[in-house]
Amino acid sequence: MKRILVTGGAGFIGANFVRYQLEHGDEGLVIIDKLTYAGNRASLAGPLQSGRVILIEADIADRTAVDKAFHDYSPVAVINFAAESHVDRSIDDPTPFIDTNIVGTYTLLEATRGYLRQLSTEGRRDFRLLHVSTDEVYGTLGESGLFSETTPYAPNSPYAASKAAADHLVRAWHETYQLPTLITNCSNNYGPYQFPEKLIPLMILNALEGRPLPIYGDGGNIRDWLFVEDHCAGIWRVLHHGRTGEKYNIGGGNERTNLQIVDQLCAGLEALQPAASNEALRRRGLTSYTQLKTFVADRPGHDRRYAIDAAKIRAELGWAPALDFESGLLRTIRWYLENRAWSDTVLAGKYRLERLGEGS
Ligand code: NAD
Ligand code: DAU
Repeated sequence: MKRILVTGGAGFIGANFVRYQLEHGDEGLVIIDKLTYAGNRASLAGPLQSGRVILIEADIADRTAVDKAFHDYSPVAVINFAAESHVDRSIDDPTPFIDTNIVGTYTLLEATRGYLRQLSTEGRRDFRLLHVSTDEVYGTLGESGLFSETTPYAPNSPYAASKAAADHLVRAWHETYQLPTLITNCSNNYGPYQFPEKLIPLMILNALEGRPLPIYGDGGNIRDWLFVEDHCAGIWRVLHHGRTGEKYNIGGGNERTNLQIVDQLCAGLEALQPAASNEALRRRGLTSYTQLKTFVADRPGHDRRYAIDAAKIRAELGWAPALDFESGLLRTIRWYLENRAWSDTVLAGKYRLERLGEGS
């Protein structure tokens, strides 16, 4: 069986991509994942039983382990999802962001370079390495304009800087060593299996438990939201049809302020699980989810607005999001309501939905 090597496959987007690939592609998958707090076997329960998915618990910065995976499974492609992904955590402690996002990506590039040297001309010709990156590398937008592939990099958080560094390494390995690389820079994802430190799942779980919904600053910061399956479809297209050495922006065209998101979540929850029937709210004498909204101190260095110009991937590769934001958000709320056991499992570690990243 031909196999794709997927790093970070036990995380949010990785686990969704594994499902997407099983449904749409023929290749099997070899996952390398360190299983940090954000990576969970529970997110791969079904796929691991498919007979097409192998999970290796290892660090992408461990050259020996990465070399062994290449040697044992001879992948036809690599997709690098593995990363420390949470901006607030990067403010509290940038170290793992440097280790995984920069040193880990470097190690993966070098291991890939070594592996390609041993491949036949034909194997080398078809091979691709897709590095999954973020729109945060571009910094912040003012009230108008969009991020395009030629927008200069201006990262503002330790997370964004570490992702920008990784993108530069990938670019350099293409230019210098002709590694057949592709980079995707995507906007904010939402959907099933997202670790509940991120805005949308955090607000859903807090609301269900009658806890405050912490809105940073004035709630006016804007993100461009994309349903995770649409991101996976974009990655799949870029992997199969993108031009090596190129980068592709992926975004949903769904700009919303954080306050709009929280209000929409409250409305969605009210429709699917009315506050009147929620024991946790009743105990606190509350009659609606919106009463939980709480403005808190802003995130240090908080980027004001992200918005993607996805014209390149749309025109070159015919990609477009399939799901509108309203349907996607309701689908996501329903998923978290129906999968409380998954949330309980991934929250069994140290993290308990508390505020992160306040800075000093
Ligand atoms: P996530 O935090 O949910 O998952 C990251 C995964 O990587 C986890 O399974 C974790 O265990 C694994 N991992 C971490 N360090 C590792 C290491 N050293 N070696 C091997 N595995 C390691 O992240 P996500 O939201 O799924 O993001 C995936 C990728 O997409 C990241 O590169 C992120 O920067 C990028 N991205 C995310 C978004 C978003 O909105 N979530 C948007 C654009 C781009
Ligand atoms: O833009 C892509 C990026 O989107 C990805 O590269 C990152 O991996 C991903 O985490 C995400 O980064 P954000 O910082 O935008 O996501 P987060 O969910 O942390 O925050 C979204 C917005 O909501 C942001 O403006 C901060 C705000 N926020 C967040 C939390 C956790 C709040 O107001 N309250 C909160 O409790």
